[in-house]
Amino acid sequence: EATTVVVIGAGPAGLTLANLLRLAGVGCVVLERHSRAYVEGRQRAGVLDYHGAQIFEKWGLAGQILAGMPGDGSLEIRVDGRSRLLDVAALSGGRTGALIPQQILIGRLLAAHLEAGADVRFAAGDVALHDIAGPEPKVTYRDPDGVLREIGCAYIAGCDGQHGVSRAAVPADALTTYTYDHGIGWFTILADVPPPRHPLMAISSHGFAAHFARGPKASRFYLQCDPGADPAQWSEERVWTQLRLRLGDEELPAGAITDKTVVDMRSFVADPMRHGRLFLAGDAAHIITPMGGKGMNLAIADADVLAHALRAAVHDGDETGLAAYSTTCLDRVWNHQEYSRWLTEMTHEAGDESLAGPFRHRLARARLERLFTSEAAARALVDLMAGG
Ligand code: APR
Repeated sequence: EATTVVVIGAGPAGLTLANLLRLAGVGCVVLERHSRAYVEGRQRAGVLDYHGAQIFEKWGLAGQILAGMPGDGSLEIRVDGRSRLLDVAALSGGRTGALIPQQILIGRLLAAHLEAGADVRFAAGDVALHDIAGPEPKVTYRDPDGVLREIGCAYIAGCDGQHGVSRAAVPADALTTYTYDHGIGWFTILADVPPPRHPLMAISSHGFAAHFARGPKASRFYLQCDPGADPAQWSEERVWTQLRLRLGDEELPAGAITDKTVVDMRSFVADPMRHGRLFLAGDAAHIITPMGGKGMNLAIADADVLAHALRAAVHDGDETGLAAYSTTCLDRVWNHQEYSRWLTEMTHEAGDESLAGPFRHRLARARLERLFTSEAAARALVDLMAGG
């Protein structure tokens, strides 16, 4: 069998791309290793930035995908228990995003795609890429009955995340990779606790903490911890005591904890994001820490660039967009990596003085203070929050 594009992976990158290709009139088949229930149940990101929201707007999907999702009009930064509010909506000229839990975004993308009769194959095992450097690439996989199947195509989109098979199919000497270890750990929980009034980051000598909405009844919390810490070291009692201390909020209610993870605070970039007829998108090409909330947004932005480029290639025989794909995406990736690193450095070094020493601690405090004394500095931050 044959199609125009085989999309490997049904995460934010793959499902956004599949929807945009459908709207662009480009045929595709999505191959996903896990079940539909697994894909729809994954709870990770929660913020779609302004640029990401605009992508769905421009493709005419905003009504279906973003209906009822609240905006992120303000950001609270609590320094030593004292609340400071940044009016993101005003500072950005209304360029705000939407608070949308990843599983809602994924559920809606999947529903929109399947209702239109599109082809998504779950439980696809042993996915393998063949002849990616030549004119007739192929993808093979094992269907749920154990039968080996082959799909010939013109292009392959590798949207299979950090540990997928797509990037591994590129010869090692054709990729330059960059990794960076941020030298801190983040312990994160999902809990049945009402969301904060505004996305909240707290800075104090006790270490960084953050509180973000995940829908109307749930929250995600982050706590700075030692790199490589074990979630088992975090008893329920320690979690709530530390959160109340770091957020400077004795009244913070405890709630059932539904997920506990230690996040790997590492960055990764692969360059180029293309090899022959294979195009990498999202986590398959780059990993960013959760600080700044850009992982899902980068995945969606890659999908948008790739969908435009594939539309021009397939319908008009114009491959300039495909030729520019990698550099277009990597410019944004590095810009967001810098934003994420900058925010990490400032919010962590301004808190725990032992992290980078007393001199850098005071520099970080000055940088933080500047956000509230210089409108230009605050605008620079909200500009990065908006994405683009
Ligand atoms: N074959 C088929 N599918 C695969 C394979 C494989 N060998 N390996 C992985 N997959 C699937 C996974 O099961 C998953 O559904 O590919 C999908 C990859 O999805 P993600 O890991 O979510 O990656 P991506 O779509 O790039 O989105 C990444 O979203 O959760 C946010 O912030 C987070 O940065 C992250 C972003």
